[in-house]
Amino acid sequence: MSNIDFDRAGFDTTAIHAGARRDSDYGALATPIYQTSTFTFTSAGHAMGVFSGELPGYDYTRAGNPTVRVFEEKIARLEGSEDAVAAASGMGAISSVLLGLLRAGDHVVCGDTVYGCTDVVMREILPSLGVDASFADTADVAAVEAAIRPNTKIIYFETPANPTMHVTDIAAVAALKERHPGIRVVVDNTFAPPPIQYPLKLGADVVVHSITKYINGHGDVIGGVAAGSREDIAEIRSRAMGKICGAPLTPFSAYLVVRGMKTLGLRVRRHCENAMAVARYLEASPYVEKVYYPGLESMGKDHEVAKRQMNGLYTGMISFVLKDQIHGMSAFDAAKKLMDSMKIPAIAVSLGDPDTLIQHPASMTHVKVPRDVREAVGITDGMLRFSVGLEDAEDLTADFDQAFAAL
Ligand SMILES: Cc1ncc(COP(=O)(O)O)c(C=O)c1O
Repeated sequence: MSNIDFDRAGFDTTAIHAGARRDSDYGALATPIYQTSTFTFTSAGHAMGVFSGELPGYDYTRAGNPTVRVFEEKIARLEGSEDAVAAASGMGAISSVLLGLLRAGDHVVCGDTVYGCTDVVMREILPSLGVDASFADTADVAAVEAAIRPNTKIIYFETPANPTMHVTDIAAVAALKERHPGIRVVVDNTFAPPPIQYPLKLGADVVVHSITKYINGHGDVIGGVAAGSREDIAEIRSRAMGKICGAPLTPFSAYLVVRGMKTLGLRVRRHCENAMAVARYLEASPYVEKVYYPGLESMGKDHEVAKRQMNGLYTGMISFVLKDQIHGMSAFDAAKKLMDSMKIPAIAVSLGDPDTLIQHPASMTHVKVPRDVREAVGITDGMLRFSVGLEDAEDLTADFDQAFAAL
C-alpha cells in the first residue's frame, strides 16, 4: 500500500496512486493483471478462513479479484465513499444497485430523463418484480416530493441528464431525506465524473457510473461501478453484483480502467474546455436553434445549479437542435445530413472517448423510450448529441463550418 496521505492529496495524485499496491514479488509499477478464475490456498484451514471471511484473501474472481479491487478502492477515494463495487457494465451497476437495495412492494421515484436502458429497467423490469417506479422532473424538488409514497425507497436521477443536459440540484433533492427518512438518493454520475461533481458530498447515498465513458476514457472497455456506504455496497455486492447475479468487471478491464484513470483529471478538464468552446460556437451559429450545455448562461436555472455543483467544469457532452427549414429541410433531415457530412466525429453511441462522437438520441440511445415520453422532455427528432473528444477545438469548429455549409 502507498503511504501517501490521501486525505490531503490533490485530485490527480489520488487518481494516479489511490488503491495501488506495491508488487511484493517483482516490484512492478503498473498494477498486475490477476487473470485467474480461482485462487489457491496453502492449507484447508486457510481456505476455510478465507471463505468464512475470518482471513483476508480472494477465493473466486466472480466474487472479487485483486486487480478489480485496486480500481474499486481508487474510485471510492475519488468519490469520497466508504466502499465501491465494480460491475461488467454501467447497466450492470445500475441494475445491481436497484436489485440490491429494493424489495418487492417498494417504490422508486426516477428522473424523467435517463439513459434509454435505465428507462426500460424502471418502466418494465422493476414492475415485473413487484417494484413500482414513477417519474418526475427531479430539477423540480416539489415535483419529486409530490411523487414520494410511503413505500418509496429510492430517488434515482442523472445530472446532467442524458441527453437533455437538464441539471438536478443534488443537495436540494438529498435534503428531502430529512422529511422522508429511509429513502436513499442514487445519482448516475456518468456525465460528470470527478473532478466535476461529487454527489455523495452533496448528500446522495449511492453514486453509479458507466465507467465505459470518462472514467476509463479510451473507448475500449465496458464497465460500471457503484460507490456508497460500506453497508450499502456490501448489500449490493452480496445480493446482486458479482457474487450472486454474476456481473463482475474482468481483471483485464479493471487493469485498463486503472491505467486510463491516471489521466482522468487531465482528460476531463480538456473535454470540458473543448466542449465549452464548441458550445459557444454552436450557440452563435445561424444554423442552430438551441444548444443544451450546462456551462452556457442561456441554460438559465440549469446553469445556475451547475455553477454550484459542477466545480466550474461543465462536462464534455453537448446536445443541440438544428433550425427547421434550413434550405427547406426538416430539423430531422438536417440533423441526418450534418451527421453524414462531418469528418472528425464518428457516428456512434457512447461518450467520454478521446474521439469525438455524434449520435441521434431519438433513433439511437433513446429509441426504446416511447415517443410521447421522450418528446415531453425535449428529446425531439431534430436533437443531436455530441460527445466532445480530445481533438483540437478549432478542428471541431472548422468541421462544423464545412458541414453546415454542406446543408
Ligand atoms: C448516463 C448513462 N448511464 C448508464 C449507461 C450504461 O452504461 P453501459 O453502456 O456501460 O452499460 C449509459 C450508456 O450510455 C449512460 O449514458
